[in-house]
Amino acid sequence: MTVRGEGARVTVYENGPLLLRGRFTVEDQDGKPVVTARTVALCRCGRTALPPWCDGNHKAGKGAPMSR
Ligand code: FES
Repeated sequence: MTVRGEGARVTVYENGPLLLRGRFTVEDQDGKPVVTARTVALCRCGRTALPPWCDGNHKAGKGAPMSR
């Protein structure tokens, strides 16, 4: 996955997702645009049913805590 854009900001949430804010396009491994957005949450816990997006399942609280 590639994120292209100018001025995109990434915030790492402790025990939560990576939040991308700005003007950007997320591309798949072949360079095909997946979404153009201003804000997306990327899962980093592996519990989401909608990879690569966070669907809130990190709140289930099982597994090792994620650091910032
Ligand atoms: S970080 Fe939210 S579901 Fe994984």
